[in-house]
Amino acid sequence: MSKLKEMTNPDNSDLYQFIYISRITSIGLSGASTLNDIAEVSIKHNKTDDISGILCYGNGYFFQYIEGSEQALTNLKNRILKDDRHKDMQTLDFSPISERRFTSWSLRSIILERWMIKDPKVKALMPFKPYDWSTSQWQQFLDVLQDYYEHQETAGDSDIQPIKYSALGLTFSKVVGQHQAFFLIQTVLAVLIMLALVWFVLADKI
Ligand SMILES: Cc1cc2nc3c(=O)[nH]c(=O)nc-3n(C[C@H](O)[C@H](O)[C@H](O)COP(=O)(O)O)c2cc1C
Repeated sequence: MSKLKEMTNPDNSDLYQFIYISRITSIGLSGASTLNDIAEVSIKHNKTDDISGILCYGNGYFFQYIEGSEQALTNLKNRILKDDRHKDMQTLDFSPISERRFTSWSLRSIILERWMIKDPKVKALMPFKPYDWSTSQWQQFLDVLQDYYEHQETAGDSDIQPIKYSALGLTFSKVVGQHQAFFLIQTVLAVLIMLALVWFVLADKI
């Protein structure tokens, strides 16, 4: 529901939240741009169904928070359950709420390793293993996401498509990010070897 709609229709008696965690499957991992594909379709569907929320991916796990009418969320839950890009869905909560947390986001998708790792509260919950979390931990995580939303909201940010990274690409960028010095040395060595080979070939001909 847009802000305008919420202001003109303040009746939130049929407002629910659905929160779950799941694991990415090999099908999800092998997709060229799984997260982007999910976000693209979701933003379209969720807008139509007055659903807002956030989808987090990290360390092979999804954490999704969505809010909307009970019927809309039940229909979506049934669709998501059948999706073979993830498995082992564990519902954390499906209950009535009085107001939305992420009004302007039909579905924001966040890659934890890229966006949230600098936040000390999130850092304390890393490595991201949501199946090990207690109720207070996922609630704390949700509050951090809401803080993030409110911060972005004041910056006028809504429904932006995520950067196109496949899950494999994400893993790769994470590894590269952690080993930048190693990759730099490897590149310098490769260039030196190439130069040496060229020198040998040219020296042979002279
Ligand atoms: C982790 C995950 C989260 C998803 N979240 C949503 C969502 O919020 N909204 C949505 O419409 N589809 C979502 N999907 C995609 C649905 O499973 C489904 O593919 C999509 O709604 C298209 O359904 P349709 O083919 O019946 O139109 C999600 C899929 C996954 C794997």
